[in-house]
Amino acid sequence: MRPVLPAVLRSTLFAFLLLSSAAILYTMHLNARTVRSLAESSLESTALSLSVSAESALRLSGGRRREDVREILSDRVVAFALIADAEGKVLFHTNPAQVGRVLEEERLRPLLENGMPRGRRVTLGTGLPAYEYDYPLRRPGGGAELLRLVIHTARADLLLSGVRRLWWAVGAVLAVLWAIGIALERVLTRQLRLQEEAGRRERLALIGQMTATLSHEIRNALGSVKGYTQWVDEKVDPSDPRKQGLAFALKGLGRIESLVNELLLYARQDACVLRPVDLRELAGALAREETAGWGGKTETDVDAGARVLADPEKLQRVLSNGIRNAIEAMGGEGTLRVAARADGKRVRVRIEDTGPGVPESERDRLFTPFHTTKADGTGLGLAYSRKVVEEMRGTVDLRNREGGGAVLEIILPKER
Ligand SMILES: Nc1ncnc2c1ncn2[C@@H]1O[C@H](COP(=O)(O)OP(=O)(O)O)[C@@H](O)[C@H]1O
Ligand SMILES: [Mg+2]
Repeated sequence: MRPVLPAVLRSTLFAFLLLSSAAILYTMHLNARTVRSLAESSLESTALSLSVSAESALRLSGGRRREDVREILSDRVVAFALIADAEGKVLFHTNPAQVGRVLEEERLRPLLENGMPRGRRVTLGTGLPAYEYDYPLRRPGGGAELLRLVIHTARADLLLSGVRRLWWAVGAVLAVLWAIGIALERVLTRQLRLQEEAGRRERLALIGQMTATLSHEIRNALGSVKGYTQWVDEKVDPSDPRKQGLAFALKGLGRIESLVNELLLYARQDACVLRPVDLRELAGALAREETAGWGGKTETDVDAGARVLADPEKLQRVLSNGIRNAIEAMGGEGTLRVAARADGKRVRVRIEDTGPGVPESERDRLFTPFHTTKADGTGLGLAYSRKVVEEMRGTVDLRNREGGGAVLEIILPKER
């Protein structure tokens, strides 16, 4: 069963991260918008208050002494200021050299007609940002003039650059938050997997221990029973009708013995002793040994470089079982092929036969302990093979061949 907890935990963690990120970003966006409009309205109110002061100074002097406003407009935030008439002729300028120039602007007339002050951001000839504010001055005698103030935006921009810095800080905080979240998820998943694996190992070890003890006891008792039966069998005359019963008993005892021996091997928890093994020697010898007396054809094709790092004794059992399975599948005839190829850092061993192959419905159960389709099988050969090959950091698989028959493929680390 797959662990349910990590999936729930992971979604909760990511949902939390997503929600908190969204909340932080939204709050930040609202703040930034407020600061931006604050900066704009501070520019506007500075310009407006300067304009109103200038206008009242002019009104006090009856509109004649424009020079009075020079003092007001000499404020440090003012880049320059001018007063122009309805035709755009500059009547006053903080830079006296500009007086008399004519403003060529289309927006002058509508402004003077509708009478609403207007501000906009501009860039000065020096490349500095500024705020241009046009204010219609109403003259006591009717008509209007334009007061244009261009003020520095440095102070307002300070607020905006503060916001930009804040965005960076928020970005960094979010990045750290996500990095921590992802790291946490990794650690948690790993921890849970390790725990689960440890639990599984513990259960298996317990079952293994019980099986080993039981098999051991049975084998000991079996030794005496078998010894006694054999002794009686030797004493009984071949013509005695009890001889047949004794033969049955001995056959049954032999079967129990081989089952218990295989069970003991499978349940044993001994560690693999890895050594370099030359497959040319081992595979050749095993193929000869296991096929002795068999009617089919045997081919061996092992690379000279097919040397693996494995537990020789266990590998021998795996290969013997593979060859025996192949022969048993083929019956009295067919072709057995044992091949081994060095393939990068691994060696691929193949035991191929021309038997009936594996039915699709069996495929999932082949490596399950006690699964057998043979009347006298134990169903422990492939289960044992997978267990020990995986302990040797290899893999084992039983598949059907394209041209019919089956192939047992064992992949093992190559000797370094
Ligand atoms: N080469 C093969 N061709 C067809 N079936 C096979 C082959 N090797 C194994 N099997 C199937 O896998 C089952 C399990 O094999 P194994 O674990 O060695 O146990 P056993 O040989 O005692 O039955 C066999 O009973 C058989 O059905
Ligand atoms: Mg077998």
